[in-house]
Amino acid sequence: MKEDVVICRCEDITYGEIVDAVRGGLTTTEEIKRILRCGMGPCQGRTCSRLIVRIISQETGVPVAEVRFPVVRPPSRPVEIGVMAAGGPPDGNPSGGEYDAD
Ligand code: FES
Repeated sequence: MKEDVVICRCEDITYGEIVDAVRGGLTTTEEIKRILRCGMGPCQGRTCSRLIVRIISQETGVPVAEVRFPVVRPPSRPVEIGVMAAGGPPDGNPSGGEYDAD
């Protein structure tokens, strides 16, 4: 894979940056998340986590099944602060209706 391929679109982190981090000693998804912010964007890692696990596996030789995914903390979807301040959406839909397509 080319080094300039963006793996984490939310935080604009490339394949090369992740490989450099792993080769520099960051061998867990949590370490990469803390240093590069991968998984901390609006999608909360839904787009990039699996790719990062594969990169760690490729670089360390640890099987994919043994590389742990980062801890996901709520809210797992973006929620406008006004919705939280109001105690929830007026219709009771926790997503505010914004992500009903899932
Ligand atoms: S793509 Fe990485 S946090 Fe969204």
